[in-house]
Amino acid sequence: MNQKKLAFSGVQPTGNLHLGNYLGALKKFVSLQNEMDCIYCVVDLHAITVFQKPSELHDNVLETTASFLATGLNPDKSIIFNQSSVSGHTELAWILNCVSRIGWLNRMTQFKDKAGSDKEKASVGLYIYPNLMAADILLYKATHVPVGDDQKQHLELSRDIAQKFNNDFNCKDFFPLPEPLISKSISRVMSLRDGTKKMSKSEESDYSRINLKDSADEINKKIKKAKSDSEPIPDDIKLLEKKPEALNLLTIYSELSKTDLKKIISEMSGKEYSFLKTKLAEALIEEIVPVSEEIKKLLSDKSHLKRILKKGSEKANVIAEENLKNIREKVGLI
Ligand code: TYM
Repeated sequence: MNQKKLAFSGVQPTGNLHLGNYLGALKKFVSLQNEMDCIYCVVDLHAITVFQKPSELHDNVLETTASFLATGLNPDKSIIFNQSSVSGHTELAWILNCVSRIGWLNRMTQFKDKAGSDKEKASVGLYIYPNLMAADILLYKATHVPVGDDQKQHLELSRDIAQKFNNDFNCKDFFPLPEPLISKSISRVMSLRDGTKKMSKSEESDYSRINLKDSADEINKKIKKAKSDSEPIPDDIKLLEKKPEALNLLTIYSELSKTDLKKIISEMSGKEYSFLKTKLAEALIEEIVPVSEEIKKLLSDKSHLKRILKKGSEKANVIAEENLKNIREKVGLI
C-alpha cells in the first residue's frame, strides 16, 4: 500500500542533551523536515519510568524543547509537542500492552541495562516502556523513525507489534511497519572516557560527554582530557578497531567535518592525538557553541516555549484522535 511518508521521533527530557543525541538523532530530525511531514515529541511520560523530581522534569521539558528549536527544528514545518499533552499515547499504549507479548519484552536489552541487578525494584513502567514507544509511533501511523543505534531493538519491537495488530484484527496494512532511519556514518557516539560505552546523560562524569549547553571553554577542557591512545594515529582503520576511544574521536571529527573517515585517517596517520584534538575541539566549538547560546536565549522566554508546545499538541491531537477512532473501531470498543 502506498502510505504517505511521515516521520516521528522522541527525546526524553532527562537533563542535558549531548553530542550523541545531536549527531545520532537531532541533526537527522532537522534534515527530514525538508523531505516529509515530521512529528517530534518531548517524551515526558517515558522519562517518569525512572523517578524524576517534578520541578526538574518541568524545566527539562522546556529545555529539551529549546534544544529542538536551537538545533533547527521549525515549528511551522514540524509538529513539536510534549507527549503527556496528547492522551492518545497512553490510550493506545494500553491497547498495545494487550497485543505485545511478555516474551518480546523480556528480550529488551535496554530494560536489563536500566533496571540493573535488582529487576524486582524497577518500575512496571520501565518494563513496558517499549510498548509506549510503539504507541507513540503508531498513533500517527508514522512510516519513518530517525533514531540512534541504541533504539534499534525497540523499533524492531514496534514493527512486531504493528504486524501482530494488523493480523489479530484482520486489517492488513492498517499500521505501516515503521522504518528506522539510523545514520550509517555515526549511529552511536561513544563516551569520551570509555570508548566501549555510549555517550549518555546518565554517566556520572560530565567529562564523558559534550553537552549541547557547553561553553567553548568546557568543550576545550573535555576534548583535552578525552581518552585517546599513546601511539600516533595509525594508517589502517582495522588497527583502530582495537582502540575504541581513538576511533570515536576520529569518527566524530569525520562527521563534523563532513569528510570520509578513511580520508581523515590517511591525512592524520603518524600524527599525535593532540593534533586531532585541536582540530576536533575547533570543529565542536563551531558547531555546538551557537546551539548552546540559542538554547540559553530561548530559555529566557519560557512562555514562548510553552506556546509552541501547546500549538504542537493541538495539531498532534487532531491526527491522534482521527487515528484512535479507527483503532477503537478495529478493536471493537464502543
Ligand atoms: P533518548 O532520549 O535516550 O535519546 C534521544 C535520541 O538520541 C539518540 N542517542 C544517541 N545516538 C547516538 N549516540 C549516542 N550516544 C546516543 N544517545 C542517544 C537515541 O537513539 C534517540 O534517537 N526511547 C527513546 C525515546 C522515544 C522514541 C519514541 C524514539 C520515545 N518514544 C518513539 C523514537 C520513536 C529514548 O529514550 O531516546
